Amino acid sequence: MPIARFLGCFLCGKDKGVGVVEDGDVPVIRIEGKSAHHQLSDSSFDSELEFSSAKDEKDTPLSTDTEPRRTNKALVVAAKGTYALVDHEFPNLEHGREVVIRNMATGLNPIDFKSVDFNFCLPEFPWVTGREMAGVVEVVGEEVEGIRVGDRVWTSTYYRDRRAGCFQQFVTVPAHTVLPLPSNLSFDEAACLGVAALTAAMTLWRWLQVPMVPPAERTGREYLLVWGGSTVTGQFAIQIAARCGLDVIAVTSAKTRSLAESLGARVVVRDGKSNDEIVDEIRGVAGEDITRAIDLVGPSTANYCLKAFSRDEGRKCLFAPLAMISSKAEIPANVVVETVEMKQFVLDGESRRFAVELNRLVESGEILLPGLEVLEGGLGVVVVVEGLERLKRGDMVGRKMVVRMES
Ligand SMILES: NC(=O)c1ccc[n+]([C@@H]2O[C@H](COP(=O)([O-])OP(=O)(O)OC[C@H]3O[C@@H](n4cnc5c(N)ncnc54)[C@H](OP(=O)(O)O)[C@@H]3O)[C@@H](O)[C@H]2O)c1
Repeated sequence: MPIARFLGCFLCGKDKGVGVVEDGDVPVIRIEGKSAHHQLSDSSFDSELEFSSAKDEKDTPLSTDTEPRRTNKALVVAAKGTYALVDHEFPNLEHGREVVIRNMATGLNPIDFKSVDFNFCLPEFPWVTGREMAGVVEVVGEEVEGIRVGDRVWTSTYYRDRRAGCFQQFVTVPAHTVLPLPSNLSFDEAACLGVAALTAAMTLWRWLQVPMVPPAERTGREYLLVWGGSTVTGQFAIQIAARCGLDVIAVTSAKTRSLAESLGARVVVRDGKSNDEIVDEIRGVAGEDITRAIDLVGPSTANYCLKAFSRDEGRKCLFAPLAMISSKAEIPANVVVETVEMKQFVLDGESRRFAVELNRLVESGEILLPGLEVLEGGLGVVVVVEGLERLKRGDMVGRKMVVRMES
């Protein structure tokens, strides 16, 4: 059924929290204060016609084929702040180097709700979000080598291709972004590698110039500061950095202190302290030896990371503000602010080596995964949106939320 047909006519629920309206088996969900459903008209969904299977029945040629038409269930952002569950056509490959993966589990990430709440990374409506998943290879392009139908794999995707959005049953991606599942991982576990783990790995190895192979001998003390050490991304960053020969100092709450410590960080607990006091404490431990930092909280703490860096003008420092930095931030002369672009994993085939090394470290048990919270119920609108609402509240205490697909 064309999406416009079931979206244009209802959704007048209360304006509290997340509103869900069920229409038969097609739920549509609206985020508080962001609903655009009153502005919807059939023309709002012209673009849907290209993507959806949903041509009007009268336009669909009668098939003489006895095989049932394959569809692709997708959770779409149908309009600003509005989700809908729809059936699309099974994806087509655009070239011979693509792979279609049957989705078994998808990781939830802050970017998933940020992009919908603030309406960015959504080139048009409807769009499919979701950046990481694990599953089973369903289709392999004719030029692909080393990947076979039935392989268990994970991937990390770039938002610009709607077919690569991970909130759908079949996800289509370039073959170089497809990695084998480490043999010790379930699909649920592997579904958290594509964003937090890969971001930590690429940030450290590519942008912060941490050697992938730990040096045989350390020549001096160098600290990585991770502000947000118990975030899922922070947990991976602490482990990779510690393994690669850095000392790590992390800022966490008292609740998650022992988690960050168990992964190899020296911890500064932030509870009840001003950011200035936290910086003083960090510098009390690390002195002039903080030469790298990752901020995983936001523009304010990014500014305080800048204050924690070594003030020795002869020491070049590298900073990755992964949760934004103000354009007005005062950057000390010895600090270089790196722009981390995870799209490079997809656009630059050379980046695959970072995922391969990450896979090796996970498979060998040198890097541990965060605790998981698995949501059952597949791509149900309520499941995913309520999961994202919980993530937004920030009460995950270091756990990663994953949606398990229905078989
Ligand atoms: N640019 C990229 O490519 C990229 C990739 C991955 C993530 N990110 C960004 O990085 C951030 C973290 O993502 P994530 O998925 O790893 O997060 P997450 O796991 O959802 O982070 C939640 C954790 O943040 C901690 N936290 C909250 N306020 C804090 C504060 N003031 N100081 C220190 N820790 C605080 C909380 O732990 P405690 O309160 O117990 O400390 C909480 O458990 C997000 O903003 C995300 O968008 C960006």
